[in-house]
Amino acid sequence: MKKCEFKIDAKISELNPSVLLTLSGPNTDSGLQAKPAYFQGIEKFIVDSDILFPVIAECRVIKSPAEIEVLRYVARVSSDAHKQVMKQIRPGWHEYQGESVFLHHSYSVGGCRHMSYTCICGAGSNSAILHYGHAGSPNDRLIQDGDMCLFDMGANYGGYTSDITCSFPVNGKFSADQKLIYNAVLAARDAVCANAKDGVSWVDMHLLANREMLGQLKQGGLLQGEVDDMMAAGLNAIFQPHGLGHLLGLDVHDVGGYLSHCPERPSEPGVNRLRMARTLKAGMYVTIEPGCYFIEPLLNKAFADPNLSKFLVKDQIDRFRTFGGVRIEDDVLITQTGIDNFTFVPRTVEEIEAWMAK
Ligand code: GLY
Repeated sequence: MKKCEFKIDAKISELNPSVLLTLSGPNTDSGLQAKPAYFQGIEKFIVDSDILFPVIAECRVIKSPAEIEVLRYVARVSSDAHKQVMKQIRPGWHEYQGESVFLHHSYSVGGCRHMSYTCICGAGSNSAILHYGHAGSPNDRLIQDGDMCLFDMGANYGGYTSDITCSFPVNGKFSADQKLIYNAVLAARDAVCANAKDGVSWVDMHLLANREMLGQLKQGGLLQGEVDDMMAAGLNAIFQPHGLGHLLGLDVHDVGGYLSHCPERPSEPGVNRLRMARTLKAGMYVTIEPGCYFIEPLLNKAFADPNLSKFLVKDQIDRFRTFGGVRIEDDVLITQTGIDNFTFVPRTVEEIEAWMAK
């Protein structure tokens, strides 16, 4: 075979560049580092590996019309795949059988060969494990009649991600307790969907969601006291120990959350888990994913802290110790006037029950 004589440093020298810009920087979410390009002879040039990354990252934050078309497609495929799971699942399945229906539909109908992340299919108390489904807990529990399922799955198309969570009772009929927790999360999701738009603070959206959820838990008899006092004490982070959502695009937790020109990560409980603290801009694509979980170590911590335990109605909360959790997650495009929701799955209790009864 003839040896290739192409020399990149010679070619670049012909262009006589004043500086070479190489891409290097962190994904502030994953911590992964983009490594700068290297070629033999690069030492001859002036190289700047700092200024390109924030510019490219910011370009990735605002989606182009072509990107939006692909994102809308992959969210649609994932929505339909979730609906297939909800239609077919029944007590006595293993969690991985739900995952398998999702994978099959995404590939066979949507042409999505890959997933955006490892499927999270938690049933019963597993639904309170935020990143369940990894190799150590591979969605292998037998689902019991009466379990809630929290299935967080997203197909990937052409590198573009989706990230959708559906929570539903495996037997297709919500119990009173399941309805209470589900509707608390749905109220949080609806409040954010009604208020998110260009110019609105993402931190404010997180706090709005948490306030709604705590208010509903209070109405349901699990909490007592003033919601504002609960928020000030950090009770929100006991029931939702994760951020409201994240940027989505070529990475499932996309770049751009904490660039140098953006607000820094807040320090208060709950909002300190946010993957960005930015003001929303039209063209951003984000997940809205409030949740409510009964996580044993967090509940024990709250009961042991007088500043938090005064809000907890112990005999009511004890009923939910093995409940697990509920999360509702939509993928939405931020617009000047609101959101364009790319997620099409049954969301109200009535819609879910009607869909699963089919
Ligand atoms: N939904 C999976 C994740 O955000 O990591």
